[in-house]
Amino acid sequence: MTVPQQRVLVTELPGPRSRVLHERRVGAVPRAAGSVMPLYVDRAEGSILLDVDGNQILDFGSGIAVSSVGHSHPAVVAAVTEQASKFTHTCFGVNPYEPYVALAERLNELTPGSHEKRTVFSNSGSEAVENAVKIARRATGRSAIVTFEHGYHGRTNLTLAMTSKATPYKTGLGPFAGDVHRAPAPYPYRWPTGSENCLEEAFEAFVQTVHLHVGEEQVAAVVLEPVLGEAGFIVPPAGYLSRLRQWCTDHGVVFVADEVQSGLCRTGDWFAVDHEGVVPDLVVTGKALGSGLPIGAVTGRADVIDAVQPGGMGGTTAGNPVSCAAALATLDVMADEDLNARARWIGEVMTGRLQEMANRFDVIGEVRGRGAMVAVELVVDGGDRSPHPAMTQAVAKACHAAGLIAMQTGPFRNCLRLLPPLTISEDLLRDGLDVLEQAFATAA
Ligand SMILES: Cc1ncc(COP(=O)(O)O)c(C=O)c1O
Repeated sequence: MTVPQQRVLVTELPGPRSRVLHERRVGAVPRAAGSVMPLYVDRAEGSILLDVDGNQILDFGSGIAVSSVGHSHPAVVAAVTEQASKFTHTCFGVNPYEPYVALAERLNELTPGSHEKRTVFSNSGSEAVENAVKIARRATGRSAIVTFEHGYHGRTNLTLAMTSKATPYKTGLGPFAGDVHRAPAPYPYRWPTGSENCLEEAFEAFVQTVHLHVGEEQVAAVVLEPVLGEAGFIVPPAGYLSRLRQWCTDHGVVFVADEVQSGLCRTGDWFAVDHEGVVPDLVVTGKALGSGLPIGAVTGRADVIDAVQPGGMGGTTAGNPVSCAAALATLDVMADEDLNARARWIGEVMTGRLQEMANRFDVIGEVRGRGAMVAVELVVDGGDRSPHPAMTQAVAKACHAAGLIAMQTGPFRNCLRLLPPLTISEDLLRDGLDVLEQAFATAA
């Protein structure tokens, strides 16, 4: 490794070189394209980013759940380099190549269910969600799409219609695509009559929303993140996903699991739906799949996906060979290094420590998540659960000042989401948790 696996600060943050680059950026890049930390990266390896000032920053974000195998994993770098030296593009729609086919075969095997499957690739998670919607509409001949409050599915026009959060994603940017409907999120911590009622009542609210406002026979697809990501890692109550699956079957609706953030070992299983043994009709992946090389995918029932006519999906660089090579290497690393087991271990270490912090700091309302997808929700006090975005920001800032990437999220911006690389060492994991505890002590 050329980037030592240690958190070390050699300047104040941001350092002088980052500040110069930031001034250039302000003059060249729109403010809409914001960054969590204005530290400009020179190299990245494992769980450490080396910035242009020589600071070694500990990554508890993985570029939003992307660098699961760690930055610059040698196997991924080798696969990308080899493919780039052969060819970088033909357009799969003009001349095909094996890495696309091989990756489709791998995802067909890995995703839940033993039925015949197909996989189609895109450049991003948002585009993949768009493809899933196209497929569901074509296969059912219906148009309505049901999503959930606090869901996030991307920033294209259609996926913004499906994304719940107005600020900052939607404000002033509409009108958005039509026939997208929203059911209440199965959010146990904030369920109005108590978390113990969330399963029954949230499912009933979904059923009633569809019945009263959409009509069951109009619905092409139900699209759900099995762990809601941008919302601060809300895990639906046990049984919710199975009920939704059954409801979709009963009504001839395509069940789409958006696993762009939760998929591919992050939760301690290949897919978050695996925790409940649920088999979706379509599974959407992205993010960690390409280890940062742009790629998204829809995998699912052959009879459903093949409803779309030839030419109905694709794109100039969709499923480009370098991204496919990166993804094949990424999946190998995930299997060879048993990153599902690593994710479960990370989850145990993190939630254990965070629960201890919750006993110490009243602002921690809830620690939750699945595997290495761990979030903390901050509230004004332990009692009425009023969201505390200012405190969340203060804790995140204290982490950043100490050289730890921690991201603020949630519908009320009162959650910290923690997504370390799944290959992180025990020392670095514990170091990051020490920083977090110190940040709570400073801010609270
Ligand atoms: C659940 C989910 N779906 C879709 C997307 C969109 O993916 P992308 O940013 O690659 O377009 C994201 C991105 O954060 C996501 O978390």
